[in-house]
Amino acid sequence: MAGNGKSVRLGEGEYRWLEKGLRGMGFFAKLSLKELAGVLPYIHLEDHPKGRVLCKEGGKGDSFFLIYKGGVEVSKKNWDKPVAKLKEGQFFGEMSLLFGHPRNATVKTLKPTQLFELKANDFSRILKKNPGVAKTVRKVADERRRALAQI
Ligand code: CMP
Repeated sequence: MAGNGKSVRLGEGEYRWLEKGLRGMGFFAKLSLKELAGVLPYIHLEDHPKGRVLCKEGGKGDSFFLIYKGGVEVSKKNWDKPVAKLKEGQFFGEMSLLFGHPRNATVKTLKPTQLFELKANDFSRILKKNPGVAKTVRKVADERRRALAQI
């Protein structure tokens, strides 16, 4: 599933967004500028068309994704409604990497979407080095797990 988008080179705009936008919310909020600089070499920015399946329920989790532009829908087999819609600044793909399970849901782009992607190894390394980030990601993953158990 991973790495099948069109690769986009990181420019000044993307760096600025990573530094300012992301540090102000969610995933990178707890990273210092130095730590962020350490993360950047491992991040790939990829362009995906509308309708691209990025995570397939039951499949192996190999990447973590952060939405730079666009939006995705999270769905589950045999559920009549989508589980969630995620937009710019939100992340997905963390559950299988954290819990060591197959993908819990299918995630598909709702429109042309640019995603920052981290391979599983780099994701684990970043979480190990940054306990604050690990805590934030685990909290979201736990909330999502509870939501999946309830619906
Ligand atoms: P993962 O299981 O690796 O792959 C599917 C992803 O869908 C999952 O990680 C989460 O990132 C995302 N996901 C699952 N359940 C929810 C939910 N209730 N709300 C938002 N995102 C979810």
